[in-house]
Amino acid sequence: MQNNRNPGLFAVAIGTALAVLFALLGFTRILEGRLSFGLAAICVIVATLLYIFYSRGNAVTRTGYAALVLVLGVGLIIPILMVDQQQAQADQTAATYDKTLHRGAALFGQYCATCHGFQGQGIAGPKLNNNPDLNKFTDDDITRIISAGIPGDPAKPTVLAMPAWSVRYGGSLTDDDIHYLLAFIRSSDKAYLKTQGLPSTNGFGYVLGSLTNPTQIAQFNSQLKTGSKPAANQFTDMSGQKAITIPIENSTTNPSGFDFTPPNIIVKVGTTVTWENKTAQPHNVFPRQGSTPPDATFKSPPLIAAETGTFVFTFTKTGEYPYYCAIHPAMVAWITVVA
Ligand code: HEC
Repeated sequence: MQNNRNPGLFAVAIGTALAVLFALLGFTRILEGRLSFGLAAICVIVATLLYIFYSRGNAVTRTGYAALVLVLGVGLIIPILMVDQQQAQADQTAATYDKTLHRGAALFGQYCATCHGFQGQGIAGPKLNNNPDLNKFTDDDITRIISAGIPGDPAKPTVLAMPAWSVRYGGSLTDDDIHYLLAFIRSSDKAYLKTQGLPSTNGFGYVLGSLTNPTQIAQFNSQLKTGSKPAANQFTDMSGQKAITIPIENSTTNPSGFDFTPPNIIVKVGTTVTWENKTAQPHNVFPRQGSTPPDATFKSPPLIAAETGTFVFTFTKTGEYPYYCAIHPAMVAWITVVA
């Protein structure tokens, strides 16, 4: 040994220092994690290579070792970079998907929640949040339903039970919007997410966060509870009549502009009640969210038609029937059926 200072030691010192630096940058997220790991690995490999190169006297051995280390080093870096790339792509896909669900949730809160419920629980329109019947439809089926609507009565194909939403059919949503809504509705079906390899996030959890209008937030909350029974002096006692008609009328006091008149009544068991829609808007008579009426059949069709529509129901079970118009949630009413 002519010189007891191996320059390779310098290389090792500098290489280690740089590796530690890159590792720190990785941990503190200043550099992307896997990139910093790759750079640290390169520093260590190059330092080792130089160390071996300087610590051998024999040029042939030197070169041989150097080549071996180089091959090992490159062999190690390639899979690291490949994993890094795949991970980056997966992160990107997940972030895009999450954005899609947020967009779908915002559209749903604005356009669909009045009929389908802010949680997709179903009100005037069917349940959309993990509905087993709906889950059987293909993506194309659902896209078509949202785009073109659903005719209500085969005899009147121009009258739609659910409106057409696509701008192509006079609606207000673009193809992109409908794509977001499709992904959003699908996100409630766990089996679908699994077969598609998508993250198991149910987009319906994003709806409340997307609402900025206080009236909508109040509606969101009111959809989830029955509300308490009005005071006794708010009820009209109609227990002397066998058949009662409740007109649905325009109102200057109810925030929705409509009301059941009178809203709160007491009737005798066996009474037939007929709701008559006198307004220019469709309405319905639905048990309030969170309530379980003594008679489970108490529920009108989703739409009692404007101007002339009626709904007839005979109360055969005593108890409390809180109800409302699910299209205009401020139209709340209550029927007490006594023996
Ligand atoms: C005016 C009320 C109303 C609004 C608003 C509404 N829907 Fe509907 N929707 C309905 C009704 C009613 C049905 C069921 C029609 C039928 O099958 O007769 C329905 C059915 C559906 C179905 C098929 C469900 C099934 O199980 O058959 C989908 C999907 C759907 N709506 C999506 C949407 C989306 C997305 C929006 C918002 C862009 C929306 N709806 C807005 C009333 C509405």
